[in-house]
Amino acid sequence: MAETKSGELMEKIVSLCKRRGFIFQSSEIYGGLNGFWDYGPLGADLKRNVKEFWWNTMTRWRDDVAGLEATIIMHPKIWKASGHVDTFSDPMVDCKTCKARFRADQMNEIPCPQKPSKMSNECHGEKTEARPFNLMFETTVGPIKTDDSLAYLRPETAQAIFAQFKNVMETARQKVPFGIAQMGKAFRNEVTPRNFTFRSREFEQMELEFFIRPDEAVEAITGTVARPLGPGHPGEPQPNWGWQMWHQYWVEERIRFYENIGLPRTTLEEYWQKPEELAHYARATVDLLFKFPFGTQELEGIAARSDFDLSQHQRCSGRPMTVFDEELKAAWPKLDPARQTELRDRYRQARLKYLTKAGETVEAAEKQAQADAEALTKGYYVPHVIEPSAGVDRLTLALISNAYCEDQAPDEKGKLESRIVMRFHPRIAPLKVAVFPLLKNKPELVAKAREILALLRPHMTAFYDEAGAIGRRYRRQDEAGTPFGVTIDFDTLGEKGPELKDTVTLRERDSMKQERVRIADLLPLLLEKIR
Ligand code: GAP
Repeated sequence: MAETKSGELMEKIVSLCKRRGFIFQSSEIYGGLNGFWDYGPLGADLKRNVKEFWWNTMTRWRDDVAGLEATIIMHPKIWKASGHVDTFSDPMVDCKTCKARFRADQMNEIPCPQKPSKMSNECHGEKTEARPFNLMFETTVGPIKTDDSLAYLRPETAQAIFAQFKNVMETARQKVPFGIAQMGKAFRNEVTPRNFTFRSREFEQMELEFFIRPDEAVEAITGTVARPLGPGHPGEPQPNWGWQMWHQYWVEERIRFYENIGLPRTTLEEYWQKPEELAHYARATVDLLFKFPFGTQELEGIAARSDFDLSQHQRCSGRPMTVFDEELKAAWPKLDPARQTELRDRYRQARLKYLTKAGETVEAAEKQAQADAEALTKGYYVPHVIEPSAGVDRLTLALISNAYCEDQAPDEKGKLESRIVMRFHPRIAPLKVAVFPLLKNKPELVAKAREILALLRPHMTAFYDEAGAIGRRYRRQDEAGTPFGVTIDFDTLGEKGPELKDTVTLRERDSMKQERVRIADLLPLLLEKIR
């Protein structure tokens, strides 16, 4: 029953997205392309607002994060170093009867192409063994197609951040701890794209790589490594924070971000990956899940990835990814010798573990780990990283699902009728305000409405609508999720007396409350509500 209801709700959301111009199927006139979606006028603005708020909170409004915009196609060696060439795959199973291909872990959930009403496991065809299927889209660079010209569309934005780590750090004059943020397109040849835009083949990510000192360096500098005392935001960053504090900090910062765009904590869930689910280099990963109509699913992952990524690029490119830490260099000689030995050895062990996993011979790994530990005592190390990685399209879908609401509103005669209202937070709503002259055939009303539109437009997205009864115009904007409506009537013109001259009716979308506001107060009042 609950499943049918959520299915119905999803159908209503998909239909509204098309009808109102939030999201369309890509290439629809040719039958569509599975896993690809276009954003219509309202969707494009909604997505843009989400990205802008992320960019502001993650870079512009912070001292310790710099931005980057890298290319989608990069040197293929990047994807070898990152592990994507060898391991970025899903296990696939082919049905020998119906020839369909399935993800081995989703075998029971996918309709059989020959009998769509049935699930794949009911097609009794013999299945092949599971085989890895790499999810990266391949392309070639240059006019001749050879193995040497093979390149990939990036499957994540993160790797460019690691590859440009040194350039950004130096030009932005940053010191660890600091972060690099990037957003942009990513491509994955998902085997089973589904749930509307939730799992697409072309999508956008917003990723931060926040580089921190290894715990051994923190301990050498500050004497201790602070660890989380309990749940909740740990407050302003402190010099004695190790990776666990930074990880908790970023989980809480990201939850705040969602709260600030209208997804309260009650709509989210934290899922701490179990040790056996973690990538071998990851120390902890928290998935932030959203309660979508089709189930509670991942919106963002926040991973403590150790020094794996920069170390990989250092090994594979031959370029040093170490930083020099003046404070560490100064602190080291002041440590007592037992402490020095303990920290050096702990660091050596960690490097040894990484190098061995990376495939170095025992001898080479031991030699390198020893050298890395010696370098630490002189102030050099490869930074560790905390990575909050979010999907723009998933978030946009979460915001649309969360905003969708059906309630009752009075029509012109006061009779209640049902309405669909998209309760977007004003900060991310695609349109902030709609301006309505009461009647379109009264030039004075139209001129005044146009004047108000011109007043508001430089500061916010404002929509002008003069067509139809005012109630119907309100209803259209409710469906678009426009939080405010401004109506210009005969009172505005002073026809009923001087007291109401140059005032307008301001209507609030959710409460449908209307108040009379002076035109002179309108802009500051709206700006305060949408920021
Ligand atoms: N750099 C780490 C990384 O890419 P991920 O968990 O694979 O991690 C991060 O992806 C986020 O990107 C996900 O939480 C999700 O929001 C988004 N994402 C991943 N695959 C997606 C897909 N096929 N369609 C839409 N969004 C996707």
